[in-house]
Amino acid sequence: MAMNLDELNRIARAMVEKGKGILAADESSGTIKKRFDKIGVESTEENRRDYREFLFRSKEGMKHISGVILYDETIRQKARDGTPLVKLIEEAGSIPGIKVDKGTKALPFSKDETITEGLDGLRERLVEYRGLGARFAKWRATYTPTQGRPSYTCINANAQALARYAALCQEENIVPIVEPEVLMDYDNDIDACEAVTEWVLKETFQQLYYANVAPEGMILKPNMIISGMKAEKRARVEEVADRTVKVLKHCVPAAVPGIAFLSGGQSEEEATAHLNAMNAAHLNLPWRLTFSYGRALQAAPQKAWSGKADNVPAAQRAFAHRAQMNGLATTGAWKPDLEKKAA
Ligand code: 13P
Repeated sequence: MAMNLDELNRIARAMVEKGKGILAADESSGTIKKRFDKIGVESTEENRRDYREFLFRSKEGMKHISGVILYDETIRQKARDGTPLVKLIEEAGSIPGIKVDKGTKALPFSKDETITEGLDGLRERLVEYRGLGARFAKWRATYTPTQGRPSYTCINANAQALARYAALCQEENIVPIVEPEVLMDYDNDIDACEAVTEWVLKETFQQLYYANVAPEGMILKPNMIISGMKAEKRARVEEVADRTVKVLKHCVPAAVPGIAFLSGGQSEEEATAHLNAMNAAHLNLPWRLTFSYGRALQAAPQKAWSGKADNVPAAQRAFAHRAQMNGLATTGAWKPDLEKKAA
């Protein structure tokens, strides 16, 4: 298929529209099992379908969701009444997308580092996913910011894979979400996160350039610049916001329409507060700053649902609340008081 950059740019801009962000509902079968284990729900195909179906049917929640990232199983599933889940997303005014990487594998000759796999056969899979309704895709690479890691071997190998994935997507008129994630689970300080993230982003955009990826037709999904979750001292909200914007200004071309952050294990309110602080303090940025959260949008509805049909309305309310709070954070209009009112 011949690339249509206007079309790619139109979709990318719609994905980062003001007041909205992306729902990352693309947990692999292993990851969704972990989430369901926590709430005592068996991870069957039907339960996974029911859960995702009520999210996509949440009218109030979906008002703030520009796009939904799906997993291979979900993009093929139908709702209880036979409507494809993809259609529910479209009817809610949102854009369906698909996770296309095949997960992280151990990087050879490198201790505790990973390379993301999934390039073999990707061109053909993208053609199929486009036919199933996907208009954007996601590929995630991960990096550990402790004990002399990541190595350049890891940064370079993952950047090359991200770049080839992104080029294949654009050839198929699918907007690539490029997700290089510096993990937040360690005891590193914010300085380490900043240094590693800057290096990773520099290399990623260099490889995107070599692979002829058009910045106008992609979305970046990075981590925030933040202290590790196990760090003794955690940086304040304003510091996270300012340092994140600084690094992005150093690394991300102005032609990229938008940056949609991952939540990475932050609490739901923390993820909202950080995004809000960036948008409140930094006006006139070249790109839009929004969310592409998994856990920070779904922890509350999962808990409220706990696998019981009777709890669906409460779970939909919990989802709508988080989506609305994050929607406000995309314009810097969120206030902590708004959380208390809803509680
Ligand atoms: P979290 O927001 O839970 O980090 O998930 C986002 C995501 O899509 C990770 O690939």
